[in-house]
Amino acid sequence: YILKDKVLDTKVMGHRGAALLAPENTLASIRAAADVGATWVEIDVYLIAEGGLVIFHDDTLDRCTDGSGLTRDARPMDMAELDAGSWFSDKFTGEKVPTLLEALECIQSLNLGLNLEIKHDSTDVENIVPSVLAMLRDHWQDNDKLMISSFNLAALELCYEIDAQRHLAPLYEDIPENWLEQLKAIKAYSLNCDYSRLTETQARAIKAAGYKLLCYTANDPKKVEAHWEWGMDAVITDDPTQFSSLLAE
Ligand code: G3P
Ligand code: MG
Repeated sequence: YILKDKVLDTKVMGHRGAALLAPENTLASIRAAADVGATWVEIDVYLIAEGGLVIFHDDTLDRCTDGSGLTRDARPMDMAELDAGSWFSDKFTGEKVPTLLEALECIQSLNLGLNLEIKHDSTDVENIVPSVLAMLRDHWQDNDKLMISSFNLAALELCYEIDAQRHLAPLYEDIPENWLEQLKAIKAYSLNCDYSRLTETQARAIKAAGYKLLCYTANDPKKVEAHWEWGMDAVITDDPTQFSSLLAE
């Protein structure tokens, strides 16, 4: 088993772009992350009606757009009309929910790495995964600047089945007893987890097993001070400026 060590060349990854600096999961948020020096961003991909793939976190449209209702029921042409910026501030009025394709183009034009988190409705793994992978195959150039993560292990298992070369990262709130078995089964690259629930014992075991360790979502450097000691490789943060000394490394 070869460790794909060169992939992750940063300690700081912008969360949903840079969710504290601009409306999350928009192109403005991706640009904001790049503007403050982040070289990687995490964003969420969501399957909507008619097979559309958009960058969106929530199961409903209400919090982050001027629309309402279930995200999965929105049609691409309706989604394209929504304002995804004014909820955050007037400055971002008119900001759109990006399609996956628009986000891939934006991220590559900024020369950023991408942690693409597959969101799911447990039933639709067979719909979203092949579609996301096809989009990546056709529109993403550098596999070494791409990580695919998900809380849904079945989604990552299907990723592995379709394209074993991708860098996969199971996401956990609480890390299960059998995490090593789960990571081995998909030749995972990284384990991504909630910094506040991770223990030192777990962190050291994950690193000893040869995996990258990423923690979300830390916006206060003091809260993850110990985690660096334990071997954490990178932090996923809404505000990369909080970690500016590490951005320079
Ligand atoms: O990838 C880390 C983080 O994004 C996972 O949680 O809910 O913010 O997508 P969430
Ligand atoms: Mg996410």
